[in-house]
Amino acid sequence: MTVLLTGGAGFIGSHTCVELLSNGFDAVIADNFSNSSPDVIKRCEKITGKSIRYYNANVADGDAMRKIFSENRIDAVIHFAGYKAVGESVEKPVMYYRNNLDTTLTLLEVMKEFGTDIFVFSSSATVYGNINPVPFTEDMPTSTTNPYGTTKLFIEKILTDASCADKNLAVVLLRYFNPIGAHESGLIGENPKGIPNNLMPYIAQVASGKREKLHVYGNDFNTHDGTGVRDYIHVTDLAKGHVKALEYAAKHKGCEIFNLGTGTGYSVLDIVNAFEKATGIKIPYVIDGRRAGDIDESRADASKALRVLGWKAEKSLFDMCADTWNWQKNIK
Ligand code: WQD
Repeated sequence: MTVLLTGGAGFIGSHTCVELLSNGFDAVIADNFSNSSPDVIKRCEKITGKSIRYYNANVADGDAMRKIFSENRIDAVIHFAGYKAVGESVEKPVMYYRNNLDTTLTLLEVMKEFGTDIFVFSSSATVYGNINPVPFTEDMPTSTTNPYGTTKLFIEKILTDASCADKNLAVVLLRYFNPIGAHESGLIGENPKGIPNNLMPYIAQVASGKREKLHVYGNDFNTHDGTGVRDYIHVTDLAKGHVKALEYAAKHKGCEIFNLGTGTGYSVLDIVNAFEKATGIKIPYVIDGRRAGDIDESRADASKALRVLGWKAEKSLFDMCADTWNWQKNIK
């Protein structure tokens, strides 16, 4: 099976590419490298010993996508490409809706023209909003608090409607919780441009000396130590979930949603302590005010993915921290 990975040079995409190649799939990458680089693909080739065809392309560009589909027999698409910064989405909502929705709609049109009928989508636990009790289950109501999250929700609805209209289309919506960590080789990992929005890459940059200290966004949440609790999942476990999702979609039409999380929540200070224990590096921090839109706790009920896909996260918080540092320490 040949799988097109849009945004395949990104953090989740590159790790998924490695797992696909390691499990006998072929991969083609389409990426405009706005938040990644072709060097990441070379590193994926080094890890797997396999060659990866890639195109520097804007996924919203129909002609560019038709070229890819005409030059390769694409059996399935995993759609990672999209803008993903919560704060930026509040400042530039139209850019987020234009990019994240156009890429999806173009893909669906071109897939239809070429008879490709498997679509796996990189969704997010952010669609659960702040209206549900933890742990979140896939049947809970959705509600979003920022344009980034709303694009994820809109795309889920677009794909749900498309799969209802076209009985040949198999859609799997994967709701990621908080992906962190890096491939065990230390060759690929998370390397955000500018100031990291997310916790772990920020901690990693404090550890490397690039940042002075961590700013903890609030310690008055309704959690065991007052800091925000999230369900952190090793990016390699997340990548393995995509392999299972493809295998499922190859046998089942319609639209199915799966949480990809561990079911365990850790607070910001839990993560700081775990990172210090795993690396021996002290992480200085200061308590600041809350960040707009942050919820007390996000945690997955991941039982459906185990029951239906036979998938369960296996790596520990120690692995997530140690692998993060094993990657970060090599970054120039
Ligand atoms: C985690 C916790 C913060 C940074 C978002 C998106 C999600 C996904 C991942 C894109 C929170 C606290 C963070 C910092 C801090 N999207 N924090 N200081 O907000 O759960 O999820 O990113 O990839 O869809 O919603 O992740 O890592 O930003 O925050 O104290 O410098 O760490 O308040 O409690 P979040 P996060």
